[in-house]
Amino acid sequence: MDIVLSGIRPTGLLHLGNYLGALINFVKMQDENKCYFFIADIHSLTTHPLAEHLQENIKEMIAEYLAAGIDPEKSALYVQSDVPEIIELYVYLNMNAYLGELERCTSFKDKARKQPDNLNAGLLTYPCLMAADILIHRATKVPVGKDQEQHLEMTRTFANRFNRMYNCNIFPEPTAYNFGHELVKIPGLDGSGKMGKSEGGDNCLYLSDEPNVLKKKIMRALTDSGPTQPNQPKPDYINNLFTIMKAVSAPETVAYFDDKWNDCSIRYGDMKKQLFEDVNAFLTPLRERIKDIRSNDEYLAKVVRQGAEQARESARKTMIEVRKAVGIKSLI
Ligand code: TRP
Repeated sequence: MDIVLSGIRPTGLLHLGNYLGALINFVKMQDENKCYFFIADIHSLTTHPLAEHLQENIKEMIAEYLAAGIDPEKSALYVQSDVPEIIELYVYLNMNAYLGELERCTSFKDKARKQPDNLNAGLLTYPCLMAADILIHRATKVPVGKDQEQHLEMTRTFANRFNRMYNCNIFPEPTAYNFGHELVKIPGLDGSGKMGKSEGGDNCLYLSDEPNVLKKKIMRALTDSGPTQPNQPKPDYINNLFTIMKAVSAPETVAYFDDKWNDCSIRYGDMKKQLFEDVNAFLTPLRERIKDIRSNDEYLAKVVRQGAEQARESARKTMIEVRKAVGIKSLI
């Protein structure tokens, strides 16, 4: 049994890529592992300092996790800020992280380019907070995408350094959880590759998008004037549409358009209409469940309370050992 942990920032809602690439697998992992799933609201303050839409997004995302099948009786589903022990561990880890290594972190350099007017210390120590999220439960497996691998590597560095510095063995080394062949990577609609909220609104099909919005986005997806010679390899942006289609449509449908591509008779308008129908049929039950759960504030509060209680219990045990190792002793 592994201790599995995954976090997501509430800066945007969940999209089809999150669902097929991660959430579906999380649901399967719940039986064999102790799972912690949380919304990283404190992390989101590094880029979105005004918490205007934060609570709404958090509610919606919790509803999305539940609608996807995360079972709050099996997994701890919580909000980061409800577990203050994480922040305490973050502070200890800050004492143990070097300016040089934090400055060299790719995500920090990226943000330095993207938000030069708000290059705050929270961004610099983002990896320490993420390490605290993981180490607080002594998680052993962390499902992460490529963009988070360096953060996980830094978490291992901080864990080992802490153990060495304080001559203890509190933290195990967390490793990336690989879904292997089950991993479905859903590309975006703009031809740029991955479906992601940072790529802009029309690139993403959100779980909560209404049919008319889905339709608009799909009909606008990047295509071209069509193949001019039979049996040619597809350009990436066309391949992307096929990849999404494979995830939501019947195999015969995919084969039909594949044949049309190969004999140059494909009409992208027809393919997109079909893709919309199938995406919509796929997402509609999910969207309705999300709405249903989202409308019950009391239930949502109960779920995150229960999640925070579980997370705090695990965090409390770690922090007793951490304080002891560091040598912080209260006089009280
Ligand atoms: N940094 C992650 C992201 O941007 C979110 C995150 C915060 C996270 N804490 C985490 C992911 C802990 C995994 C484990 O996607």
